[in-house]
Amino acid sequence: MRVLITGAAGFLGSHLCDRFLNDGHSVVGLDNFLTGNPENIAHLGNRSDFEFVEHNISRNISIAGPIDGVLHFASPASPIDYLAHPIATLEVGAMGTHHALGIAKAKGARFLVASTSEVYGDPLVHPQPESYWGNVNPIGPRAVYDEAKRFAEAMTMAYRRTHGMDAKIVRIFNTYGPRMRPNDGRVVSNFVVQALSGIPLTVYGEGQQTRSFCFVDDEVEGIYRLFLSKEAGPINIGNPNEFTISQLATLVLEITGSKSRIDVQPLPEDDPRVRKPDITRARTLLGWEPRIQLREGLERTIAYFRQQLAVPV
Ligand SMILES: NC(=O)c1ccc[n+]([C@@H]2O[C@H](COP(=O)([O-])OP(=O)(O)OC[C@H]3O[C@@H](n4cnc5c(N)ncnc54)[C@H](O)[C@@H]3O)[C@@H](O)[C@H]2O)c1
Repeated sequence: MRVLITGAAGFLGSHLCDRFLNDGHSVVGLDNFLTGNPENIAHLGNRSDFEFVEHNISRNISIAGPIDGVLHFASPASPIDYLAHPIATLEVGAMGTHHALGIAKAKGARFLVASTSEVYGDPLVHPQPESYWGNVNPIGPRAVYDEAKRFAEAMTMAYRRTHGMDAKIVRIFNTYGPRMRPNDGRVVSNFVVQALSGIPLTVYGEGQQTRSFCFVDDEVEGIYRLFLSKEAGPINIGNPNEFTISQLATLVLEITGSKSRIDVQPLPEDDPRVRKPDITRARTLLGWEPRIQLREGLERTIAYFRQQLAVPV
């Protein structure tokens, strides 16, 4: 198979490139480096089965040659990034998805869009099954991301219904692991970098809000299975083991051996209080469930950041 992966220089996109290449497929990676890092795909540079296209997918493009699959992962993904690039975020969810779907349609390729648990907003149902429609503030600061992804889902379903395309939706929950950016503002990278740098860990509110954290290898396995399956989704792919933010902070301090203290800050606007996937569909339809426990995943992530930040063990 020859697949196009948008957002290829990002955290998830680069791991997906590795996964497809390791399984013998060839990959066209596309990215405009808005939030991505060329280092994430530097190791693929000399491979004949990997091509890179630098392009903003919110602008039209045609890709030469056959394409069997399109995986649309381009989008700022962390609150710091989408609040810094609100219009680009709306564009890539809307026009970017439209263009990626257009390429898939023209090539007769299957399509998968990276949606998010953020489509559930601040959920009134817990845990969140795919049948839940969400509780999203359409004009709050986070709406630029949440509504872009909801639009991307609607557009994907419209192409599926109108053109009979094999178009799939994955709803990704918090994922962490090597190749996250140290300054992307996500809670795992924040805590790890703060602990390794010996500065206070920033906890918002009382730290009692819960999150579920999925290690990147598990996440990529779930996405890969959905892509190859006959299922269309939406399917939640995430880890249902719930931790409070305070528990996460304590575990990071323990594994790093850091003496950093905890600094409590007010909760940001529209910050969801709870977030946990119902993964019944992924279990039954894809035979998927996460295998890597938080402690092991954190150890691997911390080892990566130690190397990046050149912090001695
Ligand atoms: N990481 C998570 O926990 C998570 C959770 C839910 C959903 N997702 C989704 O998964 C996808 C990847 O997220 P990530 O964590 O790897 O983020 P990331 O920021 O590391 O990667 C996104 C990539 O998309 C690229 N990009 C952004 N806009 C672009 C554009 N217009 N044209 C071309 N490239 C563009 C960026 O340069 C970057 O390389 C996103 O769509 C995100 O919404 C991620």
